[in-house]
Amino acid sequence: MHQAHRQRHSAKIFRVIFDELIEDTPMTQPFEPSRIIARKRDGGELTPEELAAVVARYVSGDLPDYQMAALAMAICIRGMTTLETAALTELMLRSGDVLHWNDDGRPVVDKHSTGGIGDKTSLILAPLLACCGMRVPMVSGRGLGPTGGTLDKLESIPGFCTNLSQREIVEITNRVGCVITGATENLVPADRKLYALRDVTGTVESIPLITASIMSKKLAESLDALVLDVKFGSGAFMKTREQATELARSMVETGGKMNVSTTALLTDMNQPLGRMAGNAVEVNECLETLRGEGPLDLRELTLALAAELLVLANPNVNHQEAMTQLETALDSGTAYNKFVEMVTAQGGNLNTSREIAKTWEITAEQPGIVAAIDAEQIGWAIIQMGGGRKSKTDAINHAVGLEMLVRISDAIVSGQPLVRVFFDPQSDREREEVSSRIRKAIQIADQPVATPKLIVNRITTTADSPEKRERSNR
Ligand code: URA
Repeated sequence: MHQAHRQRHSAKIFRVIFDELIEDTPMTQPFEPSRIIARKRDGGELTPEELAAVVARYVSGDLPDYQMAALAMAICIRGMTTLETAALTELMLRSGDVLHWNDDGRPVVDKHSTGGIGDKTSLILAPLLACCGMRVPMVSGRGLGPTGGTLDKLESIPGFCTNLSQREIVEITNRVGCVITGATENLVPADRKLYALRDVTGTVESIPLITASIMSKKLAESLDALVLDVKFGSGAFMKTREQATELARSMVETGGKMNVSTTALLTDMNQPLGRMAGNAVEVNECLETLRGEGPLDLRELTLALAAELLVLANPNVNHQEAMTQLETALDSGTAYNKFVEMVTAQGGNLNTSREIAKTWEITAEQPGIVAAIDAEQIGWAIIQMGGGRKSKTDAINHAVGLEMLVRISDAIVSGQPLVRVFFDPQSDREREEVSSRIRKAIQIADQPVATPKLIVNRITTTADSPEKRERSNR
């Protein structure tokens, strides 16, 4: 049996087992939300059947927000077991539509990143994998707060449509090999409702709730394999390597439980990825990288994530063979052509010029070594210029952004340009505010500093052998 087919088959078996689990554990008492909330508050384990009742009633509106918020807070404080997390993920996934694929021999794969400044790998990775015989139905999000969003970047391409229907997602993925779009209304509605509630009740920061939220959305794509880019550092959602490792383990274990081969790479987000941060400027950097040029860190991370998927989806291919295939697709221009094909299929036009704002530079006031970069502040500077959102309804100026001209460990001289800014300030004061924020984000020292490693760990599980394997400092 082909690997992709076998995995879809085993995922089906898991769902049957899951159904039986729910049926085999009938609720001995009537549904009493306050009893379930209290048990989680006291550190108890909820059954799949109880979780099923909670999710179904919450989505239908029968369980009020105040009870769901109380349960989310209890989960935040007490946590969940691996089985509870997998059950919650499965239930959320089943709250809406899932994508369906024919078995045409091409595995269906995707990547999720926990988000960072200048993180544009999706735009390169999707067409690159499509060139290597994969189907990539990438459902992505928008930026909120300091990290940018893939959909916002793509919308700097005139005409590019990011709200495809489910039928269009499947049709374009089958025909072109990849698509990058927003979630449809009916994809994991439980997450949409629960995430909005968590956002206003201080319950976003919970490893099991984050796991169920991310994994339900990705696994609703009916994947054969998933790679996770779990970032840590000043520009990441998870500030420490320890927190990121915990999240990566939780998501990888959940993927394994749900019979989807899953690998997480733990990556450093203590400085922007690549040189560009913004929207149109990031698309331009992706086009360079798709032509076999572009910054080395962006190329390294995209190739590493893509190689994981090629190997997970096809065990006959080893890591070196995967890298060779991927490098050839980048350097020959095949991946670039595939990106153009995807953009055209989604209504975009790369020949219409993308507006980029007027540029000016921020220069070093003293010589020294770049010791640290507060990547989150770089993200806030982009928001200050209008390139990101403070609240969900904010409009975005796609033309603004930054080009980082230095990286951690670089030696610099006084007067050397540190950052090129793409922004037309309305006043000297506005220009000074942006300059000062960026300048403060770049710490200059007089001692040498080590160049940080980009990919620091790998955590993996396969559907066929669900035990975890870890390899440090690869
Ligand atoms: N991103 C998500 O999609 N869900 C979370 O819970 C947190 C970050």
